[in-house]
Amino acid sequence: MMWSSLIHSTPLALLTLCVVTQSLPSNTCTPLANGYEAIDDSPAINDALKQCGNGGTIVLPANQSYSLFTPLDFSPCRNCDFQIEGTLILAASQLTYYANRQRSVFTIANATGVRIRSVTGSGVVDGNAYWWYQRTNWSPKQGGYPFVWITNSSSDVSVSNLHFKNIQDRVFRLQGNSSDLHFDRLNITAEGINGIYAGFDNFAFEMGSVKNVSISNVDIDFRAGQNNRPVGTCLAFDHATDGVEVRNVTCRRAFMGAQIQFDTMLNSAPSSATTNLTGFAQNILVSNFTFAGDHATGVESWWTLSRKVIRNVIWEWVTVEEGTPADFEACYASQRNSQYYPACVKQASYDAEVVFRHYRGKVGTPPSDPNWGEFNNELMEVKSVFEDWVADA
Ligand SMILES: *[C@@H]1O[C@H](CO)[C@@H](O)[C@H](O)[C@H]1NC(C)=O
Ligand SMILES: *[C@@H]1O[C@H](CO)[C@@H](O)[C@H](O)[C@H]1NC(C)=O
Ligand SMILES: *[C@@H]1O[C@H](CO)[C@@H](O)[C@H](O)[C@H]1NC(C)=O
Ligand SMILES: *[C@@H]1O[C@H](CO)[C@@H](O)[C@H](O)[C@H]1NC(C)=O
Ligand SMILES: *[C@@H]1O[C@H](CO)[C@@H](O)[C@H](O)[C@H]1NC(C)=O
Ligand SMILES: *[C@@H]1O[C@H](CO)[C@@H](O)[C@H](O)[C@H]1NC(C)=O
Ligand SMILES: *[C@@H]1O[C@H](CO)[C@@H](O)[C@H](O)[C@H]1NC(C)=O
Ligand SMILES: *[C@@H]1O[C@H](CO)[C@@H](O)[C@H](O)[C@H]1NC(C)=O
Ligand SMILES: *[C@@H]1O[C@H](CO)[C@@H](O)[C@H](O)[C@H]1NC(C)=O
Repeated sequence: MMWSSLIHSTPLALLTLCVVTQSLPSNTCTPLANGYEAIDDSPAINDALKQCGNGGTIVLPANQSYSLFTPLDFSPCRNCDFQIEGTLILAASQLTYYANRQRSVFTIANATGVRIRSVTGSGVVDGNAYWWYQRTNWSPKQGGYPFVWITNSSSDVSVSNLHFKNIQDRVFRLQGNSSDLHFDRLNITAEGINGIYAGFDNFAFEMGSVKNVSISNVDIDFRAGQNNRPVGTCLAFDHATDGVEVRNVTCRRAFMGAQIQFDTMLNSAPSSATTNLTGFAQNILVSNFTFAGDHATGVESWWTLSRKVIRNVIWEWVTVEEGTPADFEACYASQRNSQYYPACVKQASYDAEVVFRHYRGKVGTPPSDPNWGEFNNELMEVKSVFEDWVADA
């Protein structure tokens, strides 16, 4: 037996069609799009999240194209199943609003059991940022907001079988002591990015203060338009990243591939000059990673006064089609800013153990300098292992 109800949430006839199947323990909401690009469909989707988020299913059908102006709030989710079969398009007119306010489009804060997926694989999330990518002001570090922001101790979140395209700046940011975050079968693509943005303006994944993250079967392709050259970072691990497995990921046309990047995420870095704070990244495995771009793997950081400790971080079965296979640059990004660079060179402090094994493709011979990565021998210790590098391209 089935019954349905129509809820008119605004005079503009936003429709939320909710079908409750009594034989199932959970309910299903199917918010429909207004069908007008100029009308915000987010309120109807937020209503569905409130109504069906607690143990229910929210379906965005394949025949619908949703125009998003305002953010979607996933905090009502408690074991919810959010199925995107249609297309979600961010209204282009809102791009400056999100950038200026540092707002996210999908905010997953203090939520447990959030499953975002396409059952059929037809779902598309379109950031519509083509014109944004054309802007000529480079906005290092502060530039941009995450489109999907998982924070405030969220746990058990998964995103799968979806295509995220032309997202404004950062696709996924994972932080705030969140845990059990799983990403599988995703395509992340961007076209027409201004090549002057290089590494720190576009990210597919960036994380810090997280535990138990897996990222598998993800294809990332960043295409620059003007100033054609590699742009963006595919995977960045910042302070307090603990327990990450990356498998079967390709990263093409990116400036950076899968790197520890301390101090790139705002508000995540211990930075006090008066106390000896320690940042760390540990238990990270990147396996079966294919890269074409500038810098494939390693450590490339901004700088704060914390001491950095790296333990049990392994890159293996890395295929390099183009770019430097491995770097260790404690002051990499601050070279862009003369204000920080001299201080970084004097004060960068690392205790690092890193392993790079089973490298294939255009890898040349591995570094042989026992002090590889150390430019400041009093404060930096880098223990690196390079094993089984076969240049086969
Ligand atoms: C779109 O799909 C939904 C769910 O399958 C269905 O209820 C609705 O009638 C369809 N709308 C159109 C215009 O085909
Ligand atoms: C999460 O929500 C609970 C109440 O539901 C609250 O007690 C807790 O402080 C919140 N935690 C964070 C990190 O926002
Ligand atoms: C996270 O929690 C803090 C403290 O409770 C709160 O101020 C902040 O608004 C929350 N962030 C989000 C995105 O909900
Ligand atoms: C991802 O891209 C591949 C290759 O174009 C395609 O076969 C696959 O269906 C796409 N998957 C999704 C979820 O978009
Ligand atoms: C982080 O989350 C765990 C539970 O997942 C909790 O025990 C711990 O207190 C949290 N830490 C902070 C700093 O919020
Ligand atoms: C990590 O997450 C997976 C899937 O949710 C879970 O099965 C596993 O127990 C978690 N591992 C840890 C160490 O929390
Ligand atoms: C990686 O890809 C291989 C080959 O397609 C597959 O067998 C394996 O299960 C994948 N690993 C993960 C973690 O999905
Ligand atoms: C590595 O990944 C590629 C493509 O992502 C896949 O074809 C291959 O089977 C994977 N190999 C292993 C050993 O997982
Ligand atoms: C920080 O640690 C260094 C080396 O252990 C020590 O020389 C220095 O006095 C410490 N600074 C403070 C403010 O505790």
